[in-house]
Amino acid sequence: MTPPSLLEESLSPVLQAVAREARTGLTATPKSLSPWLFYDAAGSHLFEQITQLPEYYLTRTERSIFTAHADDIIARAAAASPHPATLTLIELGAGSATKTGILLRAAVRQQGTVVYQPVDVSESALAAATENILTNIPGVTVRSQLADYTTQPLPEDRLPNTRTLALYIGSSIGNFAPADATQVLVNLRSQLQPGDQLLLGTDLAPSSHKSPADLLSAYDDAAGITAAFNLNLLTRLNRDLGANFRLANFRHQARWNPTHSRIEMHLESLARQTVVIPANSTGPTLTLHLVPGETIHTENSYKFTATAITHLLSPASFTPTHTWQDPQHRFAVTLATAI
Ligand code: AVI
Repeated sequence: MTPPSLLEESLSPVLQAVAREARTGLTATPKSLSPWLFYDAAGSHLFEQITQLPEYYLTRTERSIFTAHADDIIARAAAASPHPATLTLIELGAGSATKTGILLRAAVRQQGTVVYQPVDVSESALAAATENILTNIPGVTVRSQLADYTTQPLPEDRLPNTRTLALYIGSSIGNFAPADATQVLVNLRSQLQPGDQLLLGTDLAPSSHKSPADLLSAYDDAAGITAAFNLNLLTRLNRDLGANFRLANFRHQARWNPTHSRIEMHLESLARQTVVIPANSTGPTLTLHLVPGETIHTENSYKFTATAITHLLSPASFTPTHTWQDPQHRFAVTLATAI
C-alpha cells in the first residue's frame, strides 16, 4: 500500500523533485535518471569514499596541482587586468571544501586575510567545511550560503574593492551536457564583474598519456564503491517514493563514449522485470517494464581537451589566461578572466 505521506499534497519540495525526476526519466526512451539523485546522505558518503579510491585519480590529481601551484594561481588571479586587487573566493558546490584549504592558505599568505564564500545545497557539508576551515586556517572569514548555484544567485554581500575568484573545481562541470554546462557558466558570468576570475577544474580526455581503460577503471573500481554509489540511486527511489526496485536485478555499468568524449554510467537490468512506483502528488502509479540488457542511464562525465575547455568558456565570456596540469596530463586547472 502507498505510504499515506506520498499521496499528500505536502510532499516536501525535495521529495517532489525526486518524484518528478523519476517520472520524467523513467518514462523516457531510453530510460534515465539525473545524477543529482545520487547525493542523499548515503550517496554523499559513498562519493567521499570514491574520491579516495586508487583508481579515481581526479581528486588527488587536482589536489596535487593546487599543492604545486597555489601561490601562482592566487598571484595570477589577483594580478589580472584591469588592476591588481584583493581576492574574495566563492566556491560553487563547495561540498567538504577539503582541497580549497590549499588555495585559501595561499590567499592568506599573499593578502594577510581572505573572505571565503562557499555555496552548496547541503547544510551539513557547509557546516563541516566552515568548521574545518575556521579551525585550521587563521585569517579566513567564512560566509557560507545554502543554495543551488545552477538556479539561485551567488552571494550578493561581496566586499567593495575586491575581485571575485569563483572556484568551480572537481570537474563538476563535466556532469552537465554541453548546453547545460554553458548555461551554468553564463549564469555565473552574469553575476560577476569584468576582471573577476574563474578557476575551473576539468578532467582531461584520453590522449597519449591516458587511455579510455584508465578512465573506465576510475568509474568501475575493484572494490565496487562506484557500483554501490550507482545502485544507491535505486535504494533512494525505494525509500523516498516507495518504489520496489530489486537491487539484485541490476548491475552497475561504466562505458566510454568516444563520440561525446564522456564516461557514461548505467544501471543494467539483469532480468525481464516490472517495477512499480506508487501514485504520489506528482502523478498516478508508474509501472515500468524492463528487459534483460536494457539500461537506466544515470550519469555522464565529460572529459575535455584544451580546445574543448576554451569552447566551453568563450560562449560565457570567459577568456582562459593560464592552465596548470599534473605531470601525467590527466587533469587541468584553468584560470579564466570574465570579459
Ligand atoms: C562529481 N563528479 C565530478 C564525479 C565525476 O567524476 O563525474 C561523480 C562521480 N561519478 C562516479 N564517480 C564519481
